[in-house]
Amino acid sequence: MVPQMLSRLWSYFVFVSSKKARLTGQSPDGREAVLLNYVLKKAEEGNAQAVLAAIDDYTQSVWMMNIGKHKGSILESAVHRCEPKLALELGAYCGYSAIRIASKMTKPGRKLISIEMNPNNCNVAKEIIIHAGVASKVEVMEGTVSDKVEDLCEILDDEGVPHFDFILTDHSKKSYLPDFLVLKERGMIGKGTVIVSNNVGSDFSNHLRSKTNELESEEHKCCAEYLSLLPSIIPVSTFKADLPISVRT
Ligand SMILES: C[S@@+](CC[C@H](N)C(=O)[O-])C[C@H]1O[C@@H](n2cnc3c(N)ncnc32)[C@H](O)[C@@H]1O
Repeated sequence: MVPQMLSRLWSYFVFVSSKKARLTGQSPDGREAVLLNYVLKKAEEGNAQAVLAAIDDYTQSVWMMNIGKHKGSILESAVHRCEPKLALELGAYCGYSAIRIASKMTKPGRKLISIEMNPNNCNVAKEIIIHAGVASKVEVMEGTVSDKVEDLCEILDDEGVPHFDFILTDHSKKSYLPDFLVLKERGMIGKGTVIVSNNVGSDFSNHLRSKTNELESEEHKCCAEYLSLLPSIIPVSTFKADLPISVRT
């Protein structure tokens, strides 16, 4: 127990002090690829809960930036309440939160689009999502909101829905607000869209708190990913305003 915790703490400092990790979203020691092999070996194919358990097990001794169990259950409750037809995730990493979201999208025809800028993380996420048996519900796209904005508009049109009804922002803090504004300006956020934000940066937190005319937010107290002593907050916000979808074209 103690050696595992020390190893996890050490790997946390290795990760957060790495320039590569900050710039690329990928660890300096390739732990994402090691996780993939671990999952393929340990978790039963097609069993999403077994895949999540294997990831949580691996992260007992190696810290990773998956949303984790505690925040994951807040995320799952928000998805369960919202019952999204079309959901969007910003920041797939290794696919952990995507599997949690997809597992709660139980009705037929439901879909999650997950955007991930790092090509290696993208590949790991895709493989883990396939292994978890939820690939028919999850599409991982390599890129960022700004370079995928037209594809996102097209997906909404193809699916015949006016806007995403659920969004998880879990990519880079500095992109939360600009990406939110792009999605809003292009009509991809609309009345009833639920937005869950992990590790909110101050400008986005301020935005959520100040725009009470368009957003209703509740803040859930929790702890940081795989670091139970570090307090954190997850805001779950619902967009209240009605936007014309014509802004998309
Ligand atoms: C905190 S991790 C996501 C964890 C994931 N949601 C989970 O819980 O399993 C952040 C991920 O966002 C990606 N990322 C960072 N900035 C991004 C951006 N602007 N657009 C898309 N992905 C980004 C990183 O490469 C990294 O894989």
